Amino acid sequence: MGMYNDKVMDHFMNPHNIGELENPDGIGTYGSPVCGDMMQISIRVQDEIITDAKFKTFGCGSAIASSSVATDMIIGKTIDQALAITNKQIIDELGGLPAVKIHCSVLADHAIKAAIYDFAQKNGKIYAGLEGFDPNEDDEENDTCDTEE
Ligand code: FES
Repeated sequence: MGMYNDKVMDHFMNPHNIGELENPDGIGTYGSPVCGDMMQISIRVQDEIITDAKFKTFGCGSAIASSSVATDMIIGKTIDQALAITNKQIIDELGGLPAVKIHCSVLADHAIKAAIYDFAQKNGKIYAGLEGFDPNEDDEENDTCDTEE
């Protein structure tokens, strides 16, 4: 199908960082309200830096490509930098996604936040980038297909 560019196809065919970290410092799952697909991201954190990340995605090819590139993007970043990543940046990093697949990148964005939320909860930390984030909120329509945030 000509729907996807080479970079998306490459991340889909050869995804990076698949799996689940043993004893992760943070782990989060997010389910898409649009299609019901799920993504789990686990992270290792040392001195506020994400030193490793892995994902499991029960979803479409775009979700797999988005999680592959998103985990690449957060490894080596500080928590604050990782929280600042938007789904638009994930799409840009992939060189674009078809409009009907935008929500797949939102899944990755939210799964990152869910993993960091878990880390913050376990360690009594507060991050400005998590303000208003609720990992259990998965049926709101307002954050599904929004690339403008
Ligand atoms: S994550 Fe739902 S169609 Fe891609």
